[in-house]
Amino acid sequence: DATSQDTGYILAIDQGTTSSRAIIFDHDASIVSVGQKEHEQIFPRPGWIEHDPAEIWGNVREVIGQALSKANLTRHDIRAVGITNQRETTVVWDKATGEPVYNAIVWQDTRTQGIVDRLAADGGLDRFTPVTGLPLSTYFAATKIAWILENVDGVRERGERGELLFGTTDTWVLWNLTGGPQGGVHASDVTNASRTLLLDLRTLEWDDDILAAFDIPRSLLPEVRSSSEEYGRAASSSLLRETPIAGILGDQQAATFGQAAFAAGEAKNTYGTGNFLIINTGTDVVASTNGLLTTIAYKLGDGDTHYALEGSIAVTGSLIQWLRDNLGIISSSEEVEKLALSVDDNGGAYFVPAFSGLFAPHWRPDARGALVGLTRFVNKGHIARAALESIAFQTREVLDAATADMGTPLEELRVDGGATQNDTLLQFQADILDLPVVRPVIGETTALGAAYAAGLAVGYWSGLDELREKWQEDRRWEPTMDADERGRLTRNWSKAVERTLDWVD
Ligand code: G3P
Repeated sequence: DATSQDTGYILAIDQGTTSSRAIIFDHDASIVSVGQKEHEQIFPRPGWIEHDPAEIWGNVREVIGQALSKANLTRHDIRAVGITNQRETTVVWDKATGEPVYNAIVWQDTRTQGIVDRLAADGGLDRFTPVTGLPLSTYFAATKIAWILENVDGVRERGERGELLFGTTDTWVLWNLTGGPQGGVHASDVTNASRTLLLDLRTLEWDDDILAAFDIPRSLLPEVRSSSEEYGRAASSSLLRETPIAGILGDQQAATFGQAAFAAGEAKNTYGTGNFLIINTGTDVVASTNGLLTTIAYKLGDGDTHYALEGSIAVTGSLIQWLRDNLGIISSSEEVEKLALSVDDNGGAYFVPAFSGLFAPHWRPDARGALVGLTRFVNKGHIARAALESIAFQTREVLDAATADMGTPLEELRVDGGATQNDTLLQFQADILDLPVVRPVIGETTALGAAYAAGLAVGYWSGLDELREKWQEDRRWEPTMDADERGRLTRNWSKAVERTLDWVD
């Protein structure tokens, strides 16, 4: 029973787009300690974004050590480990040496447009959607695996000889943590697998026809497992040796799980480098007719598969980083709120950050970013304001699509992620949606979701009802803007979006 099992802690590894973190949770789902380290963003050419997989694995090991030592704990105190990760980011490596054959190609990278165009020429962008739930897009892993096979010397031959492995970063971390070349477990969970463009959403198996279309050897692919089960144990070389690795969820699905959105109709919106709205559709596979993705929400052990609709926005928080790193108008991301509050409104400026084309609901890879409505009046405060507002306007677009797909509007929006500390943003979000926005007490919902999945697998928590009781409201923002003003602003936003289209030929 639950009470006899609740000693010890759960450690969650969150391998994100900008950093890797290890967070230790106790039985109340309170945070005990956090280790965190950023990794380099590598931009070799416009549109290309890479990470060094060896740096990521090194950082994961380091942050596990930080979290354990800050809490003064050892592996004996950790009952299980959960993994959550940036999704779609693609690593291919040599299974005998553990050496990556190329840098990780990041989810935001658009270099695979040529592969998308080639495949779309025969059957259109939706040719794999009925099976996978996804349109053909540079976003998903299959295009990135194909690019590596086609463009890195010797890789196709090595892949066909069965010498190479593919993984998203959950798989890369799991394989290394369980021993790497010495018996590492090569597996992924259903949520990550559902982002490759290679998985049959209903059978949970890799689809041979799609593999053939991309010319990807099946031997590269990991075994597909549930989101909550023991995949393996940490290797003897690890600080966590012998600890079960027992939960894996892609980060957006983990945040949904951490927000206790377990049932159909429950939803969350995460504000990270991008924004991701996920609406649980229960055990039904719902096809979108409004530009959302169909994806897997979770599957616990032998339980039913739960599905979701997703509105993925490529650039939100990373626009604020861009203001910091590329324009230098702020020196930390938090400063954006102060700069935005130095002016009364956006001064007529709208900023559409189509840096990776536009994702949901447009799916326009040909779009590029635009800052429009400029006059001599506009200053850096207005630009900061326009950048923040773009996060809320993009969320409005995906929420409108979700409402159209579902037929019923949400009653409120549960939010999480770094930018939900920004009061100005969340008030504007409530105003533009005309919907209450609600933030939970535990903001670290992504790591928490992975901890929940791992804890359930080893009996540390008794089930979803116990987890549901842990969710608590921290703060709520009610809409106050009048309808005319909301209408004017959203019309202007739509005009600005038009200006970004057809940019790349
Ligand atoms: O699909 C990409 C998403 O999983 C990345 O999330 O939070 O690492 O930016 P994040």
